[in-house]
This record gives sequence, C-alpha cells and structure tokens, in this order.
Amino acid sequence: MPTQSPLPDPGTALHIGGLQLRTLIKSGATGSIHAAVDTATGRMVAVKLFNHSPATADPGTPRYNPWEFIASLNHPNIVKIFGTGCENGQHYAIMELSSSGTLNTSQQPPLPRAITLARQILHALDHLHAHGQIHLDIKPGNLLLFPDNRLKVSDFGLMRPLRAPATRPMGSPGFMSPEQIMGLPLDQRSDLFSLGVVLYRMVTGRSPFGGRGVSDIIYRTLLITPPQPALLQPNLPTALSHVIMQALTKRPSQRLTHAADFLAVLDSLEIGTQ
Ligand SMILES: Nc1ncnc2c1ncn2[C@@H]1O[C@H](COP(=O)(O)OP(=O)(O)OP(=O)(O)O)[C@@H](O)[C@H]1O
Ligand SMILES: [Mg+2]
Repeated sequence: MPTQSPLPDPGTALHIGGLQLRTLIKSGATGSIHAAVDTATGRMVAVKLFNHSPATADPGTPRYNPWEFIASLNHPNIVKIFGTGCENGQHYAIMELSSSGTLNTSQQPPLPRAITLARQILHALDHLHAHGQIHLDIKPGNLLLFPDNRLKVSDFGLMRPLRAPATRPMGSPGFMSPEQIMGLPLDQRSDLFSLGVVLYRMVTGRSPFGGRGVSDIIYRTLLITPPQPALLQPNLPTALSHVIMQALTKRPSQRLTHAADFLAVLDSLEIGTQ
C-alpha cells in the first residue's frame, strides 16, 4: 500500500529538497504543484508534492517510478524533471516551471498553430514510445506551454512501460481510449487516440465525445463515431480530417501505429507553422 503523506499548508513557507516553496499553483488529483526557488542557485522551479508515493511496487514486478524515468530523458517537448526525492515521508519531483499555463482547447488556435502544437505532442510521444513508455494521460491540462511558443508534455502519473500487464482502467474521460476504458492491454496507439481528441478539439472547437456526465462521455467514446472535423469546419483539409478520424477509431488495429506515421501525414499537408 502506498503511504499517504500530509500536504503542506500552502500558506506556510516550506523547504523541501533544497527548495523554498513560494506559491501553490494548483492542487490536483494526485498532489499539489508549487512554484519554488532553488535556494542554492536562486532559480525558480516547479515542485510536485505527491499525495502518495509515485512509484509502483506491485509484488513480483520491479519498482518503477515514472517521474524518475522522465528525469533520465532530455527532449524539447517533454517537461524537464530535475530530480525526485522523499523528505520526511513527503514524495516530490522538481521540474522546470511553466509561466504560460496549459493548452486551452476552448479557444480555437489558427490551423497552422494547431498543427504545430500537435506535432510537438507527437514528437514527445515518439520519444516516450521509443523508450518503451506510454503516457496514458494526454489532455490539455497535462500539456504545458512556454514563452517561446513551445509545448511540453507533463504529468507522468499514469505513464507505464509498454509491456506492463493491463491494470484497472485509469485515465481522463473524454481523452481515454476505448481500450483504456475497458482495461484491455495497451500500447502506444492509446496515446495516439488521446492526441486525436486534443487535435479534434483544437480544429473544431468541440469535443468529439462530449456528453452530459462521465457515463455519457464513456458511452460515446466506446460506441459513437463523432462527426468528421471537415463537416464542422468546411475549410479544413480533407486529409487532416481523415487522419483525425483514423486516430479516433475504436479499434487500435485500424489506427496509425506510430507517432512518426501521424507526423508524416501532418508534414504532407504542408500547412505553414506558427
Ligand atoms: N511544471 C509546471 N509549471 C507550472 N505549472 C504546472 C507545472 N506542472 C503542472 N502545473 C499546473 O498544475 C496542474 C496540475 O498538474 P498535474 O497535471 O501534474 O497534476 P494532477 O494531480 O494530475 O492534476 P490534474 O488532476 O489537474 O490533472 C497542471 O494542469 C498545470 O496547470
Ligand atoms: Mg494532470
């Protein structure tokens, strides 16, 4: 069983891992994110304080901490994790601080910007998948923006090795793939489904499986084919509409297999970058 540790009172100055916590950015499902200053260098960073240990320790499987794994990577579209640790029972991860918020799909970006954002997510996924990891929680709130217009994938709470056995269903309704909802074995095509949802929302301004409540969203994800994006946005290139629909296919075997295949289609559209 993971150990539960109390979250600090956000009003109190607190030190952890050589950092002084400054402001609470957000209290989320798995812990809280704070802006903090590295007392040795003066650099501002973000620190995630976990409600539970982020490492899995299932009997018979090697210990796995997704945040530690990410700390070993260096990719321009994956948020940099500077370190992880545990102090007085409080597990934490230190990462680069985004001051530009997260992707907001309720505001439709111009098409070239939407494609640039999707390409950045796909580059991050390509890197994670090449390292044998699936993210499993691609959604706007986990896509951080930086002042140089760069997007970085964040929140590795659900990430796991590609060949890990199926677990109980976990993810974000509206972005989870059908196989994720059903607790079936998962591979990188599950992340491509979630990316398809994000891209659908960016180019149409609508959620493909939007419904009234979680059970309606789950029902639609499993059984309803959403309207083609080109029907909602007549000026959209047909090839783009098609590849988004292909990403949202219920059966993984009918989707593109790799992030690189998806990138190749986006590149072939020759839509300018922004
Ligand atoms: N490095 C960062 N810099 C700035 N803000 C961040 C950073 N990481 C996360 N945040 C903010 O905190 C929010 C929650 O972070 P995260 O997704 O890691 O936690 P969570 O517990 O999964 O929360 P949620 O349930 O909202 O997904 C993000 O949506 C974002 O607004
Ligand atoms: Mg999150």
